[in-house]
Amino acid sequence: MAAKHGNFKTSFGFLMAAAGSAVGLGNIWGFPSNAAQNGGALFLFIYLILAFLLAYPVLVAEITIGRYSKKSMPDTLASLTDIKYLSIVGRCIGHSSIIVAILINGFYMIVAGWMLAYLFIPFMQFFSMPDAEIFLSSQSVSRDAGFAVIFVIISSAVIYQGVDKGIERASSVLMPLLLILLLGLTVYVLCQDGAVKGVALYLYPNELHFSAALILNALGQAFFSLSLGVGVMLIYGSYLNSDANLPKLAAQVTLIDVSVAFLAGLLIIPAMTVAESHGLLIHDTEGLLLAGPDLIFQVLPALFDTMGWGGAIVSVIFFLLMVVAALTSAFSILEVVTVYFIDTLSISRHQAGLLTAIINSLVSIIIAAYFTELFDLTVFFSTSLMQPLLGLMICIYCGWLWHRDTCLQSLAEGYPELRSSLFWKVWPFYLRFICPLLIISCFFYN
Ligand code: PHE
Repeated sequence: MAAKHGNFKTSFGFLMAAAGSAVGLGNIWGFPSNAAQNGGALFLFIYLILAFLLAYPVLVAEITIGRYSKKSMPDTLASLTDIKYLSIVGRCIGHSSIIVAILINGFYMIVAGWMLAYLFIPFMQFFSMPDAEIFLSSQSVSRDAGFAVIFVIISSAVIYQGVDKGIERASSVLMPLLLILLLGLTVYVLCQDGAVKGVALYLYPNELHFSAALILNALGQAFFSLSLGVGVMLIYGSYLNSDANLPKLAAQVTLIDVSVAFLAGLLIIPAMTVAESHGLLIHDTEGLLLAGPDLIFQVLPALFDTMGWGGAIVSVIFFLLMVVAALTSAFSILEVVTVYFIDTLSISRHQAGLLTAIINSLVSIIIAAYFTELFDLTVFFSTSLMQPLLGLMICIYCGWLWHRDTCLQSLAEGYPELRSSLFWKVWPFYLRFICPLLIISCFFYN
């Protein structure tokens, strides 16, 4: 059955779109920031374990129920069970996932907008426009809201074109570009004086920072990074043909995602020690490596400034990398909300896309206007709390409430040897018991 919202033409197209959704600011900014503040290699290690043991099985579940139902999250969860009240609960969970998607998009577009603003700074320097440079580099409601809206408009233009002509085509160009930019930059940074110290800092756990917060951070990071819980992978799964091998595709998406996060750590943390060797400050008052906005918008631009014109080029490439990473993730969040409006309001893709763009722009503008009060709160609520919780609900609906035979049949469509595979021996049990237990215990532990 073809999805009424569209179809990916090839499995490669799905892979680029799904990996594009997964690989984003969470990998290139969030992961190195988290690793820098949480003991480097130790965080990397826990993140890798959680990504493969916890997030991957949930990813397979999301893609599988999506391809089966070919509907948005509320209708999908409602359709997995015959028990009436659980079907209603499933629908409510689905609606809340859309709210979480809108919230994520609200802060994500602001951060993506910052990247876009910083991309233009070297050009303003080149054309000697100091006022524009100050506007782009200083936080203000007009800059944050303005660039967030520009980002929403650019991403919506792609969603407008539909699944294969928009998302698939754009992701198939942008993802290889992203990998080339990232590899090129990493090699360049690793060749600079002072980089070796950063590699050591990243890969050897010199201090054991093991804590509950670290686990919750790594869990949130793994769920955020694989775009889980908000129905992105479910919707992308619904655009897959029946002959696609879901466990394999999901493994490829996870592998690309963690590899990019790993590479980004190898770019950002050595870049900081290169900055240190240029005399820049890279630790905060408590002796921790700078992270978050200080890292991206102070340390790195200051480092680029010490490199003369070469630095301007590196700066443009770096922020272009960030913009590309954010774009492919933005497509996926906007697509989820668009499909939701198409399904619930029975309107066309163009109308739904417009409505999505307006609502998401408004949410970004509100967060930008009340930045101090709302930004961190929105990030914490939607990513650390709601994404793992919604992931838990997906485990319960897919693992416990969906008929095992239907699940088997659905998965086996593109994987005929499934019945005899190790995957089928492990995954259902894993999804039913281990994943919910691990997610719940991560919460209790905190
Ligand atoms: N996975 C994206 C990133 O790492 C963020 C994202 C979260 C995208 C949830 C879609 C849904 O940047």
